[in-house]
Amino acid sequence: MIAPTSTPPPSAPSATGRMAAVQDMARLQRLLFEVEREFVRTATTLIYRVGEPELKYLLSQHVWESAGHARFIRERGRELSGFGTGENVRPELRRLFTEAVMPADGYVALAGFYRVLKPALLAAYRHYLSATHHLADWPSRKLVEEFIADEERHAREMETWLGAVDATAWIAHLQPALAALGGLLGEQPRSPLPAGYVWESAGRKFAHPATCNRGKYPTCSSVFSLDPDETPIVRPWLVDPQTDARVIRLMVYVWLMMELDAVDYLATIFIDTPDAPFDLHHDMARHLWDESRHSQFGYRQLPKLGVDLLTLEHSLDLYNILVQMPPHERYAMMTMEFEAGSFPTKALVMDRVRELNDFEADTLLAFDRNDEQNHVRYGHRWLPEIMALCGDTRPVEEFVKATQARFAAMAKVHGGRTPHALPPAQRLTGNKILQLAGVT
Ligand SMILES: [Fe+2]
Ligand SMILES: [Fe+2]
Repeated sequence: MIAPTSTPPPSAPSATGRMAAVQDMARLQRLLFEVEREFVRTATTLIYRVGEPELKYLLSQHVWESAGHARFIRERGRELSGFGTGENVRPELRRLFTEAVMPADGYVALAGFYRVLKPALLAAYRHYLSATHHLADWPSRKLVEEFIADEERHAREMETWLGAVDATAWIAHLQPALAALGGLLGEQPRSPLPAGYVWESAGRKFAHPATCNRGKYPTCSSVFSLDPDETPIVRPWLVDPQTDARVIRLMVYVWLMMELDAVDYLATIFIDTPDAPFDLHHDMARHLWDESRHSQFGYRQLPKLGVDLLTLEHSLDLYNILVQMPPHERYAMMTMEFEAGSFPTKALVMDRVRELNDFEADTLLAFDRNDEQNHVRYGHRWLPEIMALCGDTRPVEEFVKATQARFAAMAKVHGGRTPHALPPAQRLTGNKILQLAGVT
């Protein structure tokens, strides 16, 4: 029977009831978006606390993939009635992820993320797939199937890094906090927190370590100097037309590998900007992953050119100085000073390296340059927003100038404090690079 159009609609069920099937799934997608963005905000704190470059690279990659998941979910979610327009994370989810960063030992925290929270996220995606309608919600299903494959791969990729410490007690602490929510989607029965449960994050605030962890690698303040007996990169050699191109190639790979400092200090900004719009964290996650790839360019190529990576000291000055400054100043120095200022020298270096007909080196440097141009664009786009988040109302140009001066002052206090870990005979220096390049 077809109702005549003149019949007024019944007062119930309401529009809400009519769209309940969509709204139920939109609510789950909204939760998944919030979880992924919280992972980006908090798992970044692991990066500078673990020591192995390969683990830092892997975490940067996972964070970037999580940012991608969040963005795709947000895009799909906004097609659905009930996803909501804002980007806020509900406090109980935020509290869980804020708790997860609390262990003093970065490897214990890593185990909490990858033994408790990531498996819960995988379970949440699987729940979504089982709860939704395969045909009606096909567009979401395609995304979720891909994200499940990503999460399964993340678990496999991280497995070898999880045995370093005994994290049993911390996992036992984090599990009940998750169980109290009934899983990340509330898809399981909630079990109340045990009596006397103490949130560590309620008692103290997470603080960045004063220096970043580089594990077994020797450290120093800087890899740049004017002295070929001191550091591997000799500034004037980079731009001297008399320098052999093979020497320049080795020095630029050291430079690229040391972008690991950018990985470490950029990673500190996420948790310091909890109220950032998601797109800011998305672009910073991309920036982070780019820097981790640039560092890998050096990490993979240097051994092929005869460098023993255990003789290459890691420079800690930039992290050590920047971590003493507020997040908007860190971001300003990175994008407006270090990155924007690197193009002229890098252009000269690229031209010299091309003499070698080393296609791979040319490719790596070309992509590095392209990425860096994007990073400076990110800087112009996001610096005013980070300044606003930090309550800084100065005009951007004035702020950048003042920050450069402040950095110089902070460098006097916090820079140059890391002595060479290796004696000159053992460490990679400019003169050793001449030997490796076969020009002496
Ligand atoms: Fe870079
Ligand atoms: Fe960059």
